[in-house]
Amino acid sequence: MGNFQKDISIRNEAVPTRPTFGILIETYGCQMNVYDTQAIFGLLDPSHFSAQEDELAADVILLNTCSVRDHAEHKIFSRIGEIRHRRREAGLPYPVIGICGCMAERLGKNLRKGVNPVDLVVGVDNYDSLPGLLHDILDEVGSLPRAVTGHRADTHYVAPPALYPTNNSHLVTIHKGCDYRCTYCIVPATRGPQREKDPEAILREIRKIVAAGGREVTLLGQNVSAYHWQKELDFAALLEQVAAEPGLERIRFLTGHPRDMFPHLMDTIGQLEKVCPWLHLPIQSGSNRILRRMKRLYTRDDYLGMIEYARRVIPEVSFSTDFIVGFPGETPTEFQDTLEILRAVKYDQVFSFKYSERPGVPAARLEDDVQEQEKKDRLAELIAVQKEIWEREASGFIGQIWTAVVESPARRPKGAWRLRTANNRKVVISGMELEVGDSVSVRITGHQNTTFLGDAI
Ligand code: 5AD
Ligand code: SF4
Repeated sequence: MGNFQKDISIRNEAVPTRPTFGILIETYGCQMNVYDTQAIFGLLDPSHFSAQEDELAADVILLNTCSVRDHAEHKIFSRIGEIRHRRREAGLPYPVIGICGCMAERLGKNLRKGVNPVDLVVGVDNYDSLPGLLHDILDEVGSLPRAVTGHRADTHYVAPPALYPTNNSHLVTIHKGCDYRCTYCIVPATRGPQREKDPEAILREIRKIVAAGGREVTLLGQNVSAYHWQKELDFAALLEQVAAEPGLERIRFLTGHPRDMFPHLMDTIGQLEKVCPWLHLPIQSGSNRILRRMKRLYTRDDYLGMIEYARRVIPEVSFSTDFIVGFPGETPTEFQDTLEILRAVKYDQVFSFKYSERPGVPAARLEDDVQEQEKKDRLAELIAVQKEIWEREASGFIGQIWTAVVESPARRPKGAWRLRTANNRKVVISGMELEVGDSVSVRITGHQNTTFLGDAI
């Protein structure tokens, strides 16, 4: 059963009269949503709701949505239409359709209007109202407002440990929201101000995961590196406390803001054996002028200095990042500055996006003047340059011996296993009986994109 940091009881609690409803929750966007979906399942009484994978059989379909780019929102509108279309084609009644997540927060009750109105809308801080609201709809009581949004400072979800955690790593949110004001970003509006989860609650949650057999956690938040509990416990101190938990073997975290990666935090990461040496540090652009316009609060030299420091104090550290191409006013030369960052850092993985104007954010006041085709070309060029750099890097790893932990059976080839190193490199090996969680020494024999092939030794 999911619960709350401050013991808020479930609002509008009532028991559906029919025995069980099948519920499908589709998760879009970031890991916060993956965690929240788990938390929603934890909030629903299992004697009245069961997970249903088949969209044609589900009584309720909730879409846990993302607003970060326009495209992500469009996908949801077409998905709503598609769900109803498939039901119609199959001669089946429509399911109850609900929107959760960032779109619910951004668009609220407007989602109940238009071409494809949904039955309910529940924002990121109000999932405790879902049991009551679903009862109200499914049992045709009809007494409650169908759109519940707005931020609540003291609401923190505690999801039950997942049966099949993401990449064998149990997600644990440590804070919500964001206090930065990057000019392109909708997240501060949809997720609200940064609010920390109590370190005691975090540790309790991790103990439950360990008791259920989990050995690895990923500490989650929009800016975990800005974690600060009542001015006395920062992220480095939290890492120390989490690392002291017996039975826990590995700790990852997502996402750090380059601006908060202070030397003492990196020293701590380097010193704590359980903390995995992998840093996902979104840079967004390699041009100082664009970084200023984005309000990222660091320069390219600050960023490169931080990477250099991390390499010095964190053994085997690897990096990944995010880029936005075609931010308003980005010139071809400024885009070349971004490509230079790729060459300087040599990331393991790069996630790159075309700038997408979001209503109401500060950058929406700037003219979105880089043409769509130009954005596409820049994105393609960035991907090609990264591929070339990575091919060279990855070939250099052939013959090395790495330690990696078994995550899951691989999709291909048959009988193979997917493993992950502490610094987040994926390795596929075959030809032996393994179990999820086993630690294996592998000799690297080749690679396909970001996945390595290896032999157990
Ligand atoms: N347009 C394009 N990409 C965006 N991101 C955030 N906001 C936007 C936007 N308006 C990207 C950033 C961020 C990642 C999660 O999504 O690169 O790090
Ligand atoms: Fe958005 Fe910037 Fe906050 Fe990240 S740090 S969620 S990009 S405002």
